[in-house]
Amino acid sequence: WKTLDDMDLNGKRVLLRVDINVPVEEGRVTDATRIERIVPTVTDILAHGGKVTLLAHFGRPKGKVVEDMSLKQVLPALEKALGRNVTFVPSLDAAAEAQGDLQLMENIRFYPGEEANDEGFARQLAALGDIYCNDAFSAAHRAHASTEALARLLPACAGRLMQAELSALEAALAKPERPVGAVVGGAKVSTKIALLENLVNKLDVLVIGGGMANTFLAALGADLGKSLQEPDYYDTAKDIMAQAEKAGCRVILPVDGLVARDFAKGAAHEVAQLCPDARLAEDQMVLDAGPDTVALVESAFAGLRTLIWNGPMGAFEIPPFDTATVAAARAAAKQTRDGTLTSVAGGGDTVAALNQAGVAEDFTYISTAGGAFLEWMEGKTLPGVAALGG
Ligand code: 3PG
Repeated sequence: WKTLDDMDLNGKRVLLRVDINVPVEEGRVTDATRIERIVPTVTDILAHGGKVTLLAHFGRPKGKVVEDMSLKQVLPALEKALGRNVTFVPSLDAAAEAQGDLQLMENIRFYPGEEANDEGFARQLAALGDIYCNDAFSAAHRAHASTEALARLLPACAGRLMQAELSALEAALAKPERPVGAVVGGAKVSTKIALLENLVNKLDVLVIGGGMANTFLAALGADLGKSLQEPDYYDTAKDIMAQAEKAGCRVILPVDGLVARDFAKGAAHEVAQLCPDARLAEDQMVLDAGPDTVALVESAFAGLRTLIWNGPMGAFEIPPFDTATVAAARAAAKQTRDGTLTSVAGGGDTVAALNQAGVAEDFTYISTAGGAFLEWMEGKTLPGVAALGG
């Protein structure tokens, strides 16, 4: 695909698709990471004499105007990150008339043509610009007018953040330095089957953590009391283990866990052996991996050159059930700081968990993407990337 370096930007109107779908509470942005990460692209285009119209979505208004999903509430955080004024344009007509060199269009999902990937709507957008630049990797799994159809109507290129995301993901999975491993955690195996199936064919080591590990352990015969588990996926779990063995990927499951009767702050908890013969009481549940598991994971990490991290290893929102996630994340961070490991993390709760461990800064790369990170790791073609020609 082309980048900004391939484009003559001087005097051109650039339609820049960004993802500033950030968490907002009571009208205030609570995590501006996605906004901060688009700054280099905006600055670069302006510095080369281009005019920028930012196209972005916020929430899921389903083609209707929903007042509290206006992008206006993100404007102050955007202006702060960019260190300058940004003109807010409430409609396509207003965008066509705007005079300044930097403007933000209202939530593009207020238009039904956006999610329908409607060609006519994409043409209306295309009329507002000379060049299309996509910097929204985290929305690239959506085939929408501003991420897909529009790219086919104007000279198109990837922005700086899109480039960074794609090269980090390629370094992690497409062309990794080996051995390469992954931590895949999170609550449910049902949301991560495609991911696991792809990864076991590409990795040397796979650490399975979080609630989804329960389903694997139960499939192997463990009795895990009232732990979160998905009996419908026992066979899938066994298939994934068999595939991993065939492909030469070592799977690490928790050998012990922190178990409690309540998922609450300060809940009484103890360490229980989980593998091979867990026999928890009916009212007990596993909420985190235990110390022997952490030691096992740390020693597996020690031999790795590349690590992919997706999902927490326990119910990290409530301490002490963040212990395994924090310890393993710190081990990965240390190896990264020492220069022996390339560590790439992304998807869902992952960044929050790594922030909680205080190590997000130490990872080689933290993706801004949730769903798009997962789909890329599943080996899927992302429509927003494909439309750029790569
Ligand atoms: C995200 O937050 O992951 C992206 O902005 C995509 O949002 P969506 O899941 O509503 O398409």
